[in-house]
Amino acid sequence: MSRKQILAGNWKMNQTITEARNWIRIYQAGQKKGFRTDVLLFPSFTTLYPVSKEAMKAGITLGAQNIHEAEHGAFTGEISAKMLIEAGAKWVLVGHSERRTLFGETDDRINLKVRRALFSELRVILCVGETLEERNAGTHQEVVRQQVINGLQDVHKSDLAHVVIAYEPVWAIGTGKTATPEDAQEMHAAIRQIINSEKGGEIAEQMRILYGGSVNKENAAALFACPDIDGGLVGGASLKVESFLSIFRAL
Ligand code: PGA
Repeated sequence: MSRKQILAGNWKMNQTITEARNWIRIYQAGQKKGFRTDVLLFPSFTTLYPVSKEAMKAGITLGAQNIHEAEHGAFTGEISAKMLIEAGAKWVLVGHSERRTLFGETDDRINLKVRRALFSELRVILCVGETLEERNAGTHQEVVRQQVINGLQDVHKSDLAHVVIAYEPVWAIGTGKTATPEDAQEMHAAIRQIINSEKGGEIAEQMRILYGGSVNKENAAALFACPDIDGGLVGGASLKVESFLSIFRAL
């Protein structure tokens, strides 16, 4: 079966409301209609609601970069699924390596976030990926396998249609170093195999698996041509609308 490709922009702690509005205006003018790709943007929490109408008109679906696992309560500085949905988010990123390393998110916590999001009818991009040390030690496949299994533990099969996995090797994020298409394809095929054995062949076949880590307009086409790479999660190169559009054309 053919999987619909996704191009997602992770803006991290960048783009004010004004900058985001400009970005979307230029994107809309430069975009061709009738494409068969889901375009997702993950702006800051404060930018979500103010740009939600413009984004919809431009054919962009919005998502949030984080979520708290509790429904509500005394969690100063955190954000709930209900708040995100009301602000216009349809998706949420969970398990990004910056959340894992800078904010100490464990697989258990990530799993709770995944389940909270799905229970609340948000779609999830679950991010996984090994460090350079793990790759050099040859444990990268096992590390990613554990992240996928733990992140999706107790997720009901019917909810897995709302989950996308992003393979983002930590050593490639924001570094300008990209996995070769061969290495990326190898890991994507391995992830699909894990989903196959854990959740069944049909789900594995339908699961969209994105590559992330220094994707740019030069390397995008070769990565996206790989059979198990269903699109990209783009950080730095999504901040400039022209470079995002060039990556889009590579799809
Ligand atoms: P990058 O970030 O494209 O800047 O490497 C990707 C990401 O963190 O999702």
